[in-house]
Amino acid sequence: MKAKLNCAKEAVKLVEDGMVLGIGSGSTVELFLKELGKRIKAEGLEVYGVPSSYQSHIVAVENGLRIVDLLQFPELDLCIDGADQIDSSLNCIKGGGGALTREKIVASASDRFVIIADESKLVEKLSMPIPVEILPFAYGFVAREIEKIGGSCRLREGSGKVGPVISDNGNFIVDCNFGVIEDPRDLEARLNVIPGVVENGIFCNSMIDRIIVGTEEGVRILERL
Ligand code: A5P
Repeated sequence: MKAKLNCAKEAVKLVEDGMVLGIGSGSTVELFLKELGKRIKAEGLEVYGVPSSYQSHIVAVENGLRIVDLLQFPELDLCIDGADQIDSSLNCIKGGGGALTREKIVASASDRFVIIADESKLVEKLSMPIPVEILPFAYGFVAREIEKIGGSCRLREGSGKVGPVISDNGNFIVDCNFGVIEDPRDLEARLNVIPGVVENGIFCNSMIDRIIVGTEEGVRILERL
């Protein structure tokens, strides 16, 4: 918790008056929004944001950000988001909270994309199951196609409701186990060409400008060489 808070606080320093933010999702982003809310209140800042989920939409409103959309602002100044795994080349897996599609959109629309994550997320190579958002209609077909390229799929089930998790976009999320991922860029592309796949949770290092790693003592900044 302390580590998450440390990276969240560091990211808040990047926000300037009048900025339009891409807002990721998850518990670290929630801490970021709460810390940003304190600055908004204390300094009278005006900060605009395009949230990537209902979760971050609600927390952003509660903390004084002004919600806008990509029609008004197709280009965003800065995107802040969390991650589930980060490899030694700074490729990430995201989507533990099921918000990967909109997260990838707001990150891609932003001039700068900064990941905030506690150090438990750092690994040598990516290996967790990759969250993939798919059209419900295509589930059986997509699962078979993913098996053909070496993955095994598990339909994500929710709590508080029987049956599959339905994403904020009305779709299914499948978690696809490929074991250790040697070439994240190639796998990201191979998943996204399957008809019925909306987006997948591999975020390659080329789209990431900086990673703020939170530790119990403070933060470490990672940037690609
Ligand atoms: C949401 O879909 C995810 O991509 C989150 O950004 C990711 O799961 C990190 O979440 P935490 O900040 O809660 O660890």
